Amino acid sequence: MKLIDGKKIAEDIRSEIAIEVRKMLDADHKAPHLVAILVGEDEASQTYVASKEKDCHEVGFISTVYKLSATTTEETLLKTIDFINNDEEVDGLIVQLPLPKHISTNTVIQHIHPEKDVDGFHPQNTGRMMAGMPAFLPATPFGIVELLKRSGIETEGKNCVIIGRSNIVGTPMSVLLSRNANPGNCTVTICHSKTPDIKKYTQQADILIVAVGKPHFVKSDMVKQGAVVIDVGVHRVPSETTKSGFKLIGDVDFDDVARKCSFITPVPGGVGPMTRVSLLINTLKSAKKEIYP
Ligand code: GUN
Repeated sequence: MKLIDGKKIAEDIRSEIAIEVRKMLDADHKAPHLVAILVGEDEASQTYVASKEKDCHEVGFISTVYKLSATTTEETLLKTIDFINNDEEVDGLIVQLPLPKHISTNTVIQHIHPEKDVDGFHPQNTGRMMAGMPAFLPATPFGIVELLKRSGIETEGKNCVIIGRSNIVGTPMSVLLSRNANPGNCTVTICHSKTPDIKKYTQQADILIVAVGKPHFVKSDMVKQGAVVIDVGVHRVPSETTKSGFKLIGDVDFDDVARKCSFITPVPGGVGPMTRVSLLINTLKSAKKEIYP
């Protein structure tokens, strides 16, 4: 069994990005600039945005965070987005999700200029991805593709089973791994909450990608011998063995499953760091006008 070290791979990519930024500055180009909008006080969202800010600083990007109160109206949020859309100094704009219930997520996502939509959530970017055109790809599936590539995992002709059909992970993952590309060319099955007897499908998976949102959902009897297992889940659970009293676990029961795998991602240190670094890759691509020349 080989552990896929997402933390190390993400570090390597950040070093590569930092070199690119240095070259841009040396050529009198400004540094890439990412803006994040955070609405409300959701603790996890605050942590995610703080991590994104830290990542930006590490590679030499400019980072701005707009913190709006939980009672901000949709109109005010859309006006803030307009303002950033029109700021030529800004390369990437993300609105941290989830949003408070009185704000329509779809309306907000569609309001972000597609050429600054480094989350890859705007329908123009998802449509372009589906059509195989240059597009900002959503961070988690993009990060997983990069993990597979950099770990030397062959995908062509493989059976890939994805558990989870969300707009930001499962569905785009299925598009990226079934398309005629490398990584890609998999035969992809998506399982979800209405799939009867999920095990019947997962046992056939050469590559199993789990984004189900349930701690330790995948056990060893669901996994084929020699499979590649990618765990997207992150859950904070009480622990007697850590100082904080908590630990992070995934959707996969790692201790049970690892022995059957050829490759497996740990939690933490697998997919998470790759999701974070993908946002930096997209922001760099935006600053260099690689997607929309
Ligand atoms: N909330 C959870 N994941 C994400 C993400 O990738 N982008 C944004 N904007 N919000 C999120």
